[in-house]
Amino acid sequence: MDQSRTPYFQALLDYVDAGVVPFHTPGHIQGEGMDLAFREFIGDNICAIDLTPMPGIDDLLQPTEAIKEAQELAALAWGAERTFFLINGSTSGNQCMMMTAVNPGDRIAVPRNSHKSMLGGLVMSGAAPVYMQPEVDEELHMDHCVTPATVERTLAENPDVVAVYLVSPTYYGVAADLAAIEQIVHGAGKVLLVDEAWGPHFHFHPALPLSATAAGADLCINSTHKMLSAFSQCAMLHQCGDRVRVDRLKAVLKMFLSTSPNLPMVASMDVARKQMATEGAALLSRTIDLAQETRRRINAIEGLYCFGEELQGRPGVFDLDPTKITVTVKHLGYTGYEAAELLRRRYNIQVELADLFNVVALFTIGTTRDAAERLVEAFAEIARDDRAVDMFAPSGVLERRLQRGSFRLPAIPPMRMLPRDAFLAETELVAFKDSKGRICAETLSPYPPGIPVIAPGEELTGEIIDYLRLELKAGVRIQGPYDDRLRQIRVVKERG
Ligand SMILES: Cc1ncc(COP(=O)(O)O)c(C=O)c1O
Repeated sequence: MDQSRTPYFQALLDYVDAGVVPFHTPGHIQGEGMDLAFREFIGDNICAIDLTPMPGIDDLLQPTEAIKEAQELAALAWGAERTFFLINGSTSGNQCMMMTAVNPGDRIAVPRNSHKSMLGGLVMSGAAPVYMQPEVDEELHMDHCVTPATVERTLAENPDVVAVYLVSPTYYGVAADLAAIEQIVHGAGKVLLVDEAWGPHFHFHPALPLSATAAGADLCINSTHKMLSAFSQCAMLHQCGDRVRVDRLKAVLKMFLSTSPNLPMVASMDVARKQMATEGAALLSRTIDLAQETRRRINAIEGLYCFGEELQGRPGVFDLDPTKITVTVKHLGYTGYEAAELLRRRYNIQVELADLFNVVALFTIGTTRDAAERLVEAFAEIARDDRAVDMFAPSGVLERRLQRGSFRLPAIPPMRMLPRDAFLAETELVAFKDSKGRICAETLSPYPPGIPVIAPGEELTGEIIDYLRLELKAGVRIQGPYDDRLRQIRVVKERG
């Protein structure tokens, strides 16, 4: 197949060129009915190709024409058997993978540091999680990946597990040993699902970690919008081998997809695939070189640290995506949140993620040399400034807490009900501070990075309550609760 073709983008252009008289959705009718200021800003072209499924334009739910060809081209490009375009991000990809691979009551091994959409998958599928502990890096204060040894032990201790779900790479760009894990999982006759939301580019450059499709995952997801050039919400679900039922997968996708997908988004995936297949290696080489040069320059600034190759081989760090620039600012006395705010307020720079210790800047094929220069200069200036208050001073409150280990993620609380049962149970609101011992009916994820601290069905322990109150105090947003400020929490109603 010719990877320089973009059959779906072309189908939309052909419709525009044909000058068809439109009596169909969307109601803005190719921009005619749209508010002028908005239309002028977004441009006529995007309005012209914002169309609806019809013969010649194809249907994402049941593709037979240009979308079918575009998905086949993507499957070839990523080395998958089949590829499906998603329009609600890897969030829906996680849900679709679970709904395809597991049934109510099935047990599935999942890392605790999964994105919260994994929990959505558990609630929808009714599966029971068997949590695998990722490796914790005490020095960098972050979780890395799950190791092959952990997967092996989990399967040995839980032989009834039907599938293993992994996250690789992490938000920070750390990748798991997928090849070894694939051997273990398939060797035990289980299905392997991989959340590779952050690795859609891996397949196109030899200096990047092994992709999940190349490792032989049965299903994996890529956020095409995160590291490639597609529009926001675009993701792809790749399927390999014959361990999952393709008819079930297709039925699940039909249930999750809108019957009115945004077609410019679909076209942007077609084009992003062409870009990777035809010039991905060159574009990524430039990106990797720029990121590595930036990493070296940041590491030359006193007080800053940007991890790189030296991390490889630590527990849970099999490989690294060099395009993620994680800058540890702790030694300057700043929290990551403060540094991110300074970068924005003083230097007009917005980073992808901040946590207590780090900020993460993404380098993609769209990152310019000028932008990289601005980032380095801003960091150099921040490092030169005298910090009035060292947030991590030996006598300071943060350092004292660090010494006590209270920034460590709390232990996984006991699971008293299945996530689905707790989610659907009768619930009541109670004061968060008094919720110790109750069964949580919500998912609470400090964001970023969006990793759940407690999931539906788990017991609210004192440790979890203290941890979340500390995160709130540090200004971290907690996603998921009914009450944004977490004064109250939804718990399962007790009988009697
Ligand atoms: C590991 C992981 N999986 C899934 C998602 C959800 O992806 P999306 O935003 O494309 O829905 C994210 C989002 O940050 C993520 O970090």
